[in-house]
Amino acid sequence: MYQDNDIKSKMDKKKFETSISELKTKSFVTPADMENYDNGDVTEEYQRAYKRSLADPEGFWGEVGKELEWTRPWEQVLDNSNPPFTKWWVGGEMSVCHNAVDRHVAGGKGDQIALVYDSPLTDTVKRITYSEVQDQVSRLAGKLSSLGVTRGSRVVIYMPVIPEAVIAMLATNRIGAIHSVVFGGFAARELRTRIEHAEPTVIIAASCGVEPNKIVRYKDILDEALCQSSHQPNKCIIFQRRRVLECSLEKDRDICWDEALKAEPVPCVSTEANEALYILYTSGTTDDPKGIQRPCGHAATLCWSMNAVYGLKRGVWWAASDLGWVVGHSYICYGPLLAGLTTVLYEGKPDRTPDPGQYFRIIEQHRVNALFTIPTAFRVLKRTDPAGKYARRYCSKSLKTIVVAGEHCDQDTRHWAENIFGVPVINHWWQTETGSPITAACIGYGVKGVRPHSTGYPVPGYDLRALREDGSECHSGEVGRLVAKVPLPPGFASTLWQSDDRFKKVYFDNYPGFYDTQDMGWISAEGAVWVVARADDVINVAGHRLSTAAIEDVVLKHARVADAIVVGAPDPTKGDVPLCLYVLRPPQDDEEIVQENTVTQELIALVRHLIGPIAAFRKAVAVPALPRTRSGKALRGTISKLARSQLVKLPATIEDASVFGEIKVALQKFGYAINAPDPEM
Ligand code: COA
Ligand code: AMP
Repeated sequence: MYQDNDIKSKMDKKKFETSISELKTKSFVTPADMENYDNGDVTEEYQRAYKRSLADPEGFWGEVGKELEWTRPWEQVLDNSNPPFTKWWVGGEMSVCHNAVDRHVAGGKGDQIALVYDSPLTDTVKRITYSEVQDQVSRLAGKLSSLGVTRGSRVVIYMPVIPEAVIAMLATNRIGAIHSVVFGGFAARELRTRIEHAEPTVIIAASCGVEPNKIVRYKDILDEALCQSSHQPNKCIIFQRRRVLECSLEKDRDICWDEALKAEPVPCVSTEANEALYILYTSGTTDDPKGIQRPCGHAATLCWSMNAVYGLKRGVWWAASDLGWVVGHSYICYGPLLAGLTTVLYEGKPDRTPDPGQYFRIIEQHRVNALFTIPTAFRVLKRTDPAGKYARRYCSKSLKTIVVAGEHCDQDTRHWAENIFGVPVINHWWQTETGSPITAACIGYGVKGVRPHSTGYPVPGYDLRALREDGSECHSGEVGRLVAKVPLPPGFASTLWQSDDRFKKVYFDNYPGFYDTQDMGWISAEGAVWVVARADDVINVAGHRLSTAAIEDVVLKHARVADAIVVGAPDPTKGDVPLCLYVLRPPQDDEEIVQENTVTQELIALVRHLIGPIAAFRKAVAVPALPRTRSGKALRGTISKLARSQLVKLPATIEDASVFGEIKVALQKFGYAINAPDPEM
């Protein structure tokens, strides 16, 4: 299915499209500015732990492994004999579900609240204890077993942020199977691709999702996906959201969730630490989704991180994300439950379900101690309630920490949020591939904050470098490609699902011995890290990771489009949004003339239909020609810079520099390139 040669050539073309010196101008502080800040934010305790994690990984991670209960001890902490396929806690067996649920019940925490479900969209607040979670999980696991799900089988989960999604994830793991959660904002085609790739024995779905302006008919989307899919599951289990939308069930295929939960409970099955816990698809570099495979041993890293990174030993934790993204997997579901905390599931938006007071209400009502969100959420709140009128209606004294990740956090937003919430806002850096933070302020080791604009210091296990194009190491403060030395810490992706070669090629071939994060940034002399931009085709739209190449591929499917470029353009709320410039194909002899506006509307509908509404694709405009080099390489970076009114330096190999005049006019229709100087050779 994957064409690795294509990936490589696409990567080569795009690798350093935005040159390092250009990136420096995109950042908000210069290395010189950094020297004005003191470096009192690292502690000796952190430094000791960090250094030990690199010098004595067996000792360090051996201790971390003890955070879990194992049914068979490991024989070896680290096996790096076949990099990058590093193994941790080799031979050790345990059940993630047991560690997240059963051991807390056995330890006397059965009556403690495990999940708080808060859904202003359905006017529901529900609290579920660890004992109740155990009961539901073990029954659903029993049903899955009876439907043929065994150790290593896959279960696709297609559900919104509701407790049943967490129950489904844990039940899958309880019998040693592998889940693949698909985000609800994707269209049927994306769901189909993931079903065909993971070949699930069972699919668990909800009848619908609820968005402020619509009901998303998950069951219909599932039907459409299965109708076109070359793989069919044995059965589907459907959770009927009776208060919102009850769907019809397919007679021989579907089982109602309530019926499924009548099954006899089953005990936990232990798996070896390097067996797969889940597959999570993410975008980047090509339109083919990459199935990140996460090892079960990841559970130990997550459990440890709740205190070491986030400083929470007990209490209430809220990750305001979606279970379809990595943050949802790690920090709505597994991390807090493994650490025996209470985790909040929020089904709503920051600003309009029904008002911008919801974040503050939740903090007060559920006595939240730590919040994990993305800067976009604060930008939305800042826009709708700049003076914090709604915030003042609630008491947020339980809150001690806010951490943000997923995209650049600008200082204005950070300071605004710190004032309104009254606690520090700590930025940290994350990727789906890593499953937990790469850099952070490790609160558990006494680090209290990060330096302005930075994403903090490397989390134990990450030996980070910034490299130049030729692979040599940058000086401190010089922007380069951020890479991490192999072996990566436990919890990092073990491979791409059924694609070991692709895993190596995409992440490890560019800089031998290092994992290529595909992010650009710099590292200060003290080791603090600044993440500046992605070097590939990935953009972050409201914290959602999207591939511009995937959108381009869809646009090029339109019969009247001859050429197209999609880039990320700045958006005051969502950070980036996709922006498409396309060239119309002249009509053939007997073809009708179509209006540009019609094509634009059709393109918007096509992207929505094939990728999903989450692509937030609304900006497309026809231009007479696109900037390309004589060898045909699209100069995407030039359009991105022009849109930001930055000076564009054209390569000598440009085919036709005059195209920029029309492009500038087109961009100005969307409010971009207003003060853009003319490009220079
Ligand atoms: N299922 C189905 N559709 C979904 C969805 C889901 N889980 N999540 C979003 N969508 C839809 C939205 O309804 C919207 O559709 P529309 O174009 O028909 O209106 C589209 O996808 C775009 O959604 P979104 O990017 O969320 O834009 P928005 O305008 O609805 O909301 C924000 C903007 C900033 C309020 C919202 O993105 C947000 O709350 N972000 C911060 C918190 C967060 O969860 N971040 C994820 C971190 S991993
Ligand atoms: P995802 O895999 O969806 O979590 O997206 C990962 C990407 O988001 C990273 O490669 C970065 O480009 C970006 N990202 C994550 N955290 C940060 C951060 N704190 N600052 C800047 N970019 C970030």
